[in-house]
Amino acid sequence: MNGGEPESSLASGKSRGDGPIFLVGFMGAGKTTVGRLLADRLGYEFYDLDSIIEARAGKSVQKIFAEQGEAAFRALESEAIRCCRGMKASIVALGGGAYTFEENRRALKEIGITIWLDCPLEICLERVGEDSSRPLLAGPSQMKTLFERRRPDYALADLSVDAGPGGPEDVASQIASLLEERAG
Ligand code: S3P
Repeated sequence: MNGGEPESSLASGKSRGDGPIFLVGFMGAGKTTVGRLLADRLGYEFYDLDSIIEARAGKSVQKIFAEQGEAAFRALESEAIRCCRGMKASIVALGGGAYTFEENRRALKEIGITIWLDCPLEICLERVGEDSSRPLLAGPSQMKTLFERRRPDYALADLSVDAGPGGPEDVASQIASLLEERAG
């Protein structure tokens, strides 16, 4: 299953070690691309939190922002995070703002492992281009401000990897190695 609402059968109350692995980082850091690769490699399910939110709300993230505003989106985002409680081994790509809220960080740390894809702003911006499906995309100086404001929050993740120029396969390998070290 790719994205969308987690099936209830996934909510099996597994321990932290067998639970979801959340990918954290700025827009364009590669959370979804790396998440899919990593899930394939580990034989885990992959979910995209934005897709879960869209499935639950019955509309796109873009539409939620346009019709209900950012605060409503953030409430739906926190709710979707709470729904990940009890999920079995899986990879979940979070939206770029999810880990910047203390309430979410607390819940995510209880539910599973968080990994920051630390990617330079220039690379993030190159990747996202002028994607109109990302409501918070703005000019370079506003993105720089947002990026710098968020980095200290991302740095609170359990683990971090260099998600710079190496490419998604490399990032997935780094994460797989970190997880192996942790398990061993
Ligand atoms: C957001 C990032 C988006 C999405 C929403 C808000 C953010 O996800 O959740 O548009 O606040 O940075 P991606 O990081 O997948 O673009």
